[in-house]
Amino acid sequence: MPFTVVCGGFWGDEGKGKLLSYLALKDDLESVVRAGVGTNAGHTIEFEGREYKLRMVPSGFVNPSVRMLIGAGVLVDPNVLFKELKETKTEDRMGVDYQCGIIEQKHIEIDSTDTHLKGKIGSTGSGTGPANMDRAMRSLKLARDIPELQPYLTDVSVEINDSLDEGKNVMAEGSQAILLSLFHGSYPYVTSKDTSAAAICSDVGVGPTRVDEVIVVMKAFLTRVGTGDLPGELSEEETVKRGWTEYGAVTGRLRRAAPFNYDLAKKSVRLNGATQIALTKLDIVFPEISKSNDIDKIKGDVAEFIDKIEEATKIKVAIIGTGPSAEDIIDLRNVI
Ligand code: IMP
Ligand code: MG
Repeated sequence: MPFTVVCGGFWGDEGKGKLLSYLALKDDLESVVRAGVGTNAGHTIEFEGREYKLRMVPSGFVNPSVRMLIGAGVLVDPNVLFKELKETKTEDRMGVDYQCGIIEQKHIEIDSTDTHLKGKIGSTGSGTGPANMDRAMRSLKLARDIPELQPYLTDVSVEINDSLDEGKNVMAEGSQAILLSLFHGSYPYVTSKDTSAAAICSDVGVGPTRVDEVIVVMKAFLTRVGTGDLPGELSEEETVKRGWTEYGAVTGRLRRAAPFNYDLAKKSVRLNGATQIALTKLDIVFPEISKSNDIDKIKGDVAEFIDKIEEATKIKVAIIGTGPSAEDIIDLRNVI
């Protein structure tokens, strides 16, 4: 799988961080490249007994031999980036594209106070929407304009395409998810950019003919932060009763929850051109598979659920998440 794109299947928070860290440890990758909007994403990674909540550094950092990159389409907040580089001790293997847009304090201020963005849309307040607005106005600063970023600057598209030419493996890490897409999501309750697998390729400077696998990450139940429709939404009481409570990694807000939706899964696979599904947090819905790596545990209700997803989407559930740590995975890729 020389070039693999990993994208979010619903409204984000599908557990991409954990899956991405697993893939970075397991697959022989030359580099991992962060795509997506910017610091509005929070990827949670449990690694060597520590929890990391990352908004800039790719989740693949867990593998020390992997080169880490941020693609030109991604908005960089230098303060967040430097803090995370220190926390993950990865300064020596980070590359930022010359053309990444820069989030400044003024963008954060607008995003966290504006009555439309913060009030109506329920933005994360991270400055990404206002920064993308300035980018569309062609007035946004780019990474190449920032002295502190000079040691990290690189042409990410050249790096990745060279690696692929040499037959090496590269993984693109999407953030957010398809139903938050500015084009294909539930507008106006969406993020400030397209978030499809195609957009992820564009973010990092790889053409569509070079993609080998598109892994769409779907959680075994739906969650959504902020405003907008959530089909089958449960009451807070029922969410707590089922043990489906989650809090936003960036915002700390309680996430709204609903049962898995097969029509949305089908739509997500279509819009992303997905080739495989990674189904996360299956242990939350089916505690009997908690922390398991055992294929034989896929039986009864668990097997029925997976069959139904595969029937609706016409692609395979290839990876299953059974717990919060990178090791809590049932990997079916060599079996199917
Ligand atoms: P913004 O991207 O901060 O402008 O927020 C717009 C909408 O997208 C809000 O409903 C956010 O909660 C949602 N959103 C943006 N990024 C993420 C993410 O990474 N996970 C979940 N929701 C997100
Ligand atoms: Mg998140």
